[in-house]
Amino acid sequence: MPLAVRFDEYGDVDVLRVEEVPRPVPGPGQVLVAVKAAGINPGEASIRKGLLHAVWPATFPSGQGSDLAGVVVEVGSDVTRFGVGDEVLGFVDTRSSQAELVVADADHLVTRPGPVPWEVAGSLFVVGTTAYAAVRAVKVVSGDTVVVSGAAGGVGSIAVQLATDAGAKVIGLASEGHHAWLAGHGVIPVAYGDGVAERIKEAGGGRTDAFIDTFGGGYVEMAVALGVGPDRIDTIIDRAAAQEYGAKTDGSAAAASAEVLAELAGKIAGGRLELPIAKTYPLTEVREAFRELEQRHTLGKIVLVP
Ligand SMILES: NC(=O)c1ccc[n+]([C@@H]2O[C@H](COP(=O)([O-])OP(=O)(O)OC[C@H]3O[C@@H](n4cnc5c(N)ncnc54)[C@H](OP(=O)(O)O)[C@@H]3O)[C@@H](O)[C@H]2O)c1
Repeated sequence: MPLAVRFDEYGDVDVLRVEEVPRPVPGPGQVLVAVKAAGINPGEASIRKGLLHAVWPATFPSGQGSDLAGVVVEVGSDVTRFGVGDEVLGFVDTRSSQAELVVADADHLVTRPGPVPWEVAGSLFVVGTTAYAAVRAVKVVSGDTVVVSGAAGGVGSIAVQLATDAGAKVIGLASEGHHAWLAGHGVIPVAYGDGVAERIKEAGGGRTDAFIDTFGGGYVEMAVALGVGPDRIDTIIDRAAAQEYGAKTDGSAAAASAEVLAELAGKIAGGRLELPIAKTYPLTEVREAFRELEQRHTLGKIVLVP
């Protein structure tokens, strides 16, 4: 029987288990994927802790995960786009990707371009579509100065590259240890913490046109104080501040499509976009993987490898 991540109650990482489950069966329009890699995301930790119960309640026993990449091993009726043996990446909206065998809708998958490593393919969907939506929301154009908080994280590391690709001067807020990676990707690294607004002004020559907040904790307010118009601020985390200041909240849902995923995977295959992989863990070490993620200092992605 295949292994899958499960939890039966809200709680810390210790409620997570990896257990044998019945082999899933693909229905019409679906395929069964043998998972090679499945990224983990902070939102999954929030759901598991019950912090999002009011909006996205869990039903128990719950599986976990959206991102995946793997090999098609079974095809449901009506599926013509994929056949057994095809290598795919994509997502599920059934909280189930962190498992050895996963049923996915065929139209939530795209073909894995050969040059995209499994662990990158399997962790691209959530952060890639979120970064894509955020950069689009603030209407980045050539010559803009754009600030990204959490610039080295999963979403931030892609957002900074999409913004530089659009011709913007990008200031990335990150801890010292991640400055070299940002500078190597054409981003001006700036340390967060006391005095950050002054350092942003200095780095941007007094100009900030747009602000993408992937961290929360006051960055929307800071962006407004820096003179950025609310229509050019996007936060993917601080809905209260967005409401207060009229900022945008475009995230994954605004760009969650196979087309966007294929575009991003194509950029990675072509060497125009990088998704750094901080660490991989075996599926059975899902607790350790989330312990590390929940420190909130990841460069890029942490990925489970069944
Ligand atoms: N709305 C949506 O659709 C959507 C989608 C995806 C994610 N999210 C949310 O967006 C957030 C980011 O997700 P993620 O996957 O990118 O997380 P992540 O990979 O865990 O990124 C965390 C990043 O935050 C940075 N950070 C830590 N303390 C900071 C501070 N005080 N100021 C600025 N940056 C700081 C870290 O940088 P250093 O390591 O350099 O300290 C790290 O790179 C999460 O809260 C997640 O739930 C929302």
